[in-house]
Amino acid sequence: MTQPDTDKGLQIDLILQSLHTQYIGKELIYFESTDSTNVQASILGTKGAENGTTVVTEKQTQGKGRMGRTWISPVNSNLYFSILLRPPTSPQAASWIPLVAGVALAKGISGYTGLSAKIKWPNDLLIGKKKFGGILIETHIVSNRIHYLVLGVGLNVNMTRFPEEIAPFATSLKKELGHPCHREPLLVHLLEELEKQLQDFYESGPEKTSGNWIQLSDTIGKEVTVTLGNQSIKGKAINLDPHGGLILEKRDGTKTTILTGDVVQLRTDVLNRK
Ligand code: BTN
Repeated sequence: MTQPDTDKGLQIDLILQSLHTQYIGKELIYFESTDSTNVQASILGTKGAENGTTVVTEKQTQGKGRMGRTWISPVNSNLYFSILLRPPTSPQAASWIPLVAGVALAKGISGYTGLSAKIKWPNDLLIGKKKFGGILIETHIVSNRIHYLVLGVGLNVNMTRFPEEIAPFATSLKKELGHPCHREPLLVHLLEELEKQLQDFYESGPEKTSGNWIQLSDTIGKEVTVTLGNQSIKGKAINLDPHGGLILEKRDGTKTTILTGDVVQLRTDVLNRK
């Protein structure tokens, strides 16, 4: 018999009992349905909620993706959560946080499922060539200081049917594993890994994150096209710069750094043009 894509809903007690973190998820706000966990975490941030407050929901009616896109958020099947962070860093150093989150989630998912999760710049989560997760970070800065930051994560855990337009590029953990995945222990594992990686970054700076990101990256060493609105830049992704930007080497040998945008990978093999 085939297993359904939905379960009875997240058991929040189970999550709280097994979570071993200092601050992430200690305050856990649960919605059966909400517009967007990023919106809710941001409201809490404005009201002064604690660092690490986490909003989790079964379903989003206005799930937000990067670049103004929609994040498809069906009920009782996937993970949608946002963590309110008050990082002890400058806004400049916080440009690494999306990469820290990418490393934590790729490592956490690979560790928990045995699948090989990779990161496509800036922080799409892939298995093979297909995307199963994404990260949306929204930073609220006041007088050149971070008031708060919202780290939103969407993961396709047990959904197996996708809208036609994304079906060729989308996957889920269930599709890749061939069986459903319990959402509670997965969430606990990911919140713990996120706290660990963030702590390492706050204490030791970006060097380790950069090395881990490059190791887990599906982008470095490849020919890519980065689209930024109407503009597109082609080049070989060769490294990360000191602020977590992607360094591209263009055909004429000049280098340029990309700080945001969408990456399309042209070649899957590592090219050596020299
Ligand atoms: C992307 O476009 O790749 C980023 C997707 C981020 C989606 C998550 S789901 C939980 C949180 N709430 C939102 O509205 N978006 C993020």
